[in-house]
Amino acid sequence: NNISIIGVPLQYGADRKGVDLGPDAIRGANLHERLKALGFNIEDLGDLSVQRKLEAPKQGEKLKHLSEIVRVNTELAKQVSAEMSKGQFPLVLGGDHSIAIGTIKGVLQHVKRLGVIWFDAHTDVNTHETTHSGNIHGMSLAAVLGYGHPDLVAIGGLETKLRPENVVIIGARSIDPGERAFLKEKGIRVFTMHDIDRNGMKQVMEEAMEIVTNGTDGVHLSLDLDGMDPFEAPGVGTPVSGGMSYRESHFAMELLFERNILVSAEFVEVNPMLDQHNKTAMAAVELIGSVFGERIL
Ligand code: ARG
Ligand code: MN
Ligand code: MN
Ligand code: MN
Repeated sequence: NNISIIGVPLQYGADRKGVDLGPDAIRGANLHERLKALGFNIEDLGDLSVQRKLEAPKQGEKLKHLSEIVRVNTELAKQVSAEMSKGQFPLVLGGDHSIAIGTIKGVLQHVKRLGVIWFDAHTDVNTHETTHSGNIHGMSLAAVLGYGHPDLVAIGGLETKLRPENVVIIGARSIDPGERAFLKEKGIRVFTMHDIDRNGMKQVMEEAMEIVTNGTDGVHLSLDLDGMDPFEAPGVGTPVSGGMSYRESHFAMELLFERNILVSAEFVEVNPMLDQHNKTAMAAVELIGSVFGERIL
């Protein structure tokens, strides 16, 4: 019943200003009060420190800001692992989605067979070979599966990695050609917006939870706010229309709470500089509330 909050004000994986302000925007939307009202003890560890000023990526340098991203994620993996050693539930606030590497590598120190639910408009399985943008937030899922630039793959130690059969992606609607090939080759289950429209969120979540709990000892939720529709969550750097509604996302979180399978969670890509009236940070806190047990009645 103890949650450790870790903020990661990293923007270099998205190469876009503003997402570094995400952790404070989420805290500012009454995160602590909401969680305390549910009976949790909250320990807020504050933010990891991130280099303020970086050189612009050099010409011909393919992965943008690689070394700072590796450094911060290495720290994050340590901190997540240390919190889990104390029996705390790590709740990580982003920051861009490259921080999933540090979070998941930290969790893997404790949960060897980990399931992951990746809620996102994108699939983030590019590598240094397939990326068109050079942005590392589009490579984090591949990295924790053991693919991509060796410095990313090595974060948190080589001995742990995620298995493709234990991962599901929910809400995808923007997949690069190289990613499509990767997903097919590794056999990763993707529930696209088409699946959600066809079968409804209830069935999608039931199938997804079946997959991530099969043969695993715990599940991590990696939630990119751009999985939601940009009408309801406009404060993200890479919006894609036709996303999951506020209601669908909320309902998915309630179903996750009912199954009681999570060992860790992260909420990423909230960009207050692109937001309207703090809508996206507030949506993040709503979703966090639901995944920790808030109910309407
Ligand atoms: N697929 C695109 C890329 O590689 C977009 C990735 C967006 N990722 C995210 N975490 N928002 O650049
Ligand atoms: Mn995304
Ligand atoms: Mn993402
Ligand atoms: Mn709620």
